[in-house]
Amino acid sequence: MSEPAKRVALVTGGNKGIGLEIARQLGQQGITVVIGARDEARGNAAANQLCQEGLDAHAVQLDVTNAEEVAALPAFFQQRFGRLDILVNNAGVQEDPTGNATVALFRSTFEINVFAVFAVTEALLPLLKQSPAGRIVNHSSRLGSLTAMSNSPFLMPAYMSSKAALNMLTVLTARELKDTTVKVNSAHPGWVKTELGGEGAPLSIEEGARTAVELATLPSDGPTGGFFHKGQPLPW
Ligand SMILES: NC(=O)c1ccc[n+]([C@@H]2O[C@H](COP(=O)([O-])OP(=O)(O)OC[C@H]3O[C@@H](n4cnc5c(N)ncnc54)[C@H](OP(=O)(O)O)[C@@H]3O)[C@@H](O)[C@H]2O)c1
Repeated sequence: MSEPAKRVALVTGGNKGIGLEIARQLGQQGITVVIGARDEARGNAAANQLCQEGLDAHAVQLDVTNAEEVAALPAFFQQRFGRLDILVNNAGVQEDPTGNATVALFRSTFEINVFAVFAVTEALLPLLKQSPAGRIVNHSSRLGSLTAMSNSPFLMPAYMSSKAALNMLTVLTARELKDTTVKVNSAHPGWVKTELGGEGAPLSIEEGARTAVELATLPSDGPTGGFFHKGQPLPW
């Protein structure tokens, strides 16, 4: 199969919320988008919705904690598209009851928000390194900033710790890739009106997707190994 000239992006947890909107905004830039969804039917429905909007969208069944589905990703991208340029590690959960985390909750949260990001990234790095402009975006949160949370009323221990750990993965992956064309950054979307963010959130999903989209399409002189919100660096 000959390689298409278009960039190809994978957005994990892309069937709804900010992930679906990231896929839409990347698609609107002419990028082929692949929606990773743990439920195949919901993934296909989301991709069809974007196709009806005139975008080049596809779906792949991907529970990010499923080792077999993660292991199948490189062959999927190689065979279907011959390339992968952008990985948005967006799938995430926030399930802390108010201030009352358990070890079981820490484990299940870290499985999705941290361990799976490591696994998906490792699986896809060989393909991303072949891209002329590989980009990895880890969807983090200001709630994972050690500096910001040192003086804050928020208390979601499992979620906040997982996003702090995710930020460390960003730093280490960027360090590992510093002599390549691949850039790796953490994005804070803002507090966004989704199932996870809740109705009280001030930002629309469209606004919430912008930071990740910007980092996924950085020019060659853009930053790597940073933490950003709307173009501004955030403290670790
Ligand atoms: N909303 C906010 O205010 C906010 C703020 C800061 C950071 N973030 C981050 O932004 C990201 C997206 O959040 P959102 O607000 O859009 O949440 P959302 O509407 O709840 O969507 C979360 C997405 O992650 C998927 N997901 C969860 N576990 C998964 C798994 N094991 N495998 C594959 N997909 C999985 C969900 O799939 P299902 O549909 O199958 O459940 C869904 O597609 C998250 O990483 C979140 O931490 C959000």
